[in-house]
Amino acid sequence: MQRFIRAVMAISLIFLCSRIDSLHEADRIIRLPGQPPVSFQQFSGYITVDEKHRRSLFYYFVEAETSPASKPLVLWLNGGPGCSSVGAGAFVEHGPFRPTTGNSLVRNEYSWNKEANMLYLESPAGVGFSYSVNQTFYSSVNDAMTARDNLVFLRRWFVKFPQYKQRDFFIAGESYAGHYVPQLARLIIRSKVNFNLKGIAIGNPLLEFQHRLERTGSLLLVAWINIRLYLPTSYISLQQF
Ligand SMILES: *[C@@H]1O[C@H](CO)[C@@H](O)[C@H](O)[C@H]1NC(C)=O
Repeated sequence: MQRFIRAVMAISLIFLCSRIDSLHEADRIIRLPGQPPVSFQQFSGYITVDEKHRRSLFYYFVEAETSPASKPLVLWLNGGPGCSSVGAGAFVEHGPFRPTTGNSLVRNEYSWNKEANMLYLESPAGVGFSYSVNQTFYSSVNDAMTARDNLVFLRRWFVKFPQYKQRDFFIAGESYAGHYVPQLARLIIRSKVNFNLKGIAIGNPLLEFQHRLERTGSLLLVAWINIRLYLPTSYISLQQF
């Protein structure tokens, strides 16, 4: 009996150690329903950003199709406010798959994960699969709270995926994310967290400034396309000016 208990304890210890080694394993997606076979890895799950009010943000992470270890990390935020980054960004705009009229997914030949490791975040809580158990949050949320939650999300996400902590990191988004993206970047810089933030990109951005600055947003985007990331919405925003 004692030997049995010792064996169980040893196995539990091994299991615990491997869990610490790769916390993200629990978030691995084996295969999405109707998905064609692919060689890259996918993960999704929740990161709690506030234990007290039980607020958790949902993410979908797609590693780059080839050499993920040498490609940058891109956080993608849709706008709205209230637009799902999984529903829109990942499965309509530039994720690896698109839904078809049947019950299947097809490959998107313009997927950004050809050039980057793509992290799609549903933000703030209340959008898509992200939620707050304390629903008072929904009526009081603003840009500053969104940026703070997104920073907590990133800190904790990097604990799950430590191999990405020092990776070249970009924050990109469109529409109302013209608020979210620069405000999160500013908070990252002010918080002096040691993420390797290299740049931001905003497409068709909504900014609270004059028209002239919206143009700057589009130019930022062009610079980013130069590092070979394809953005369909860029055509819309460039034609506007
Ligand atoms: C929900 O959040 C609000 C605002 O932060 C707070 O005043 C309230 O006490 C919270 N409710 C619960 C049940 O924790």
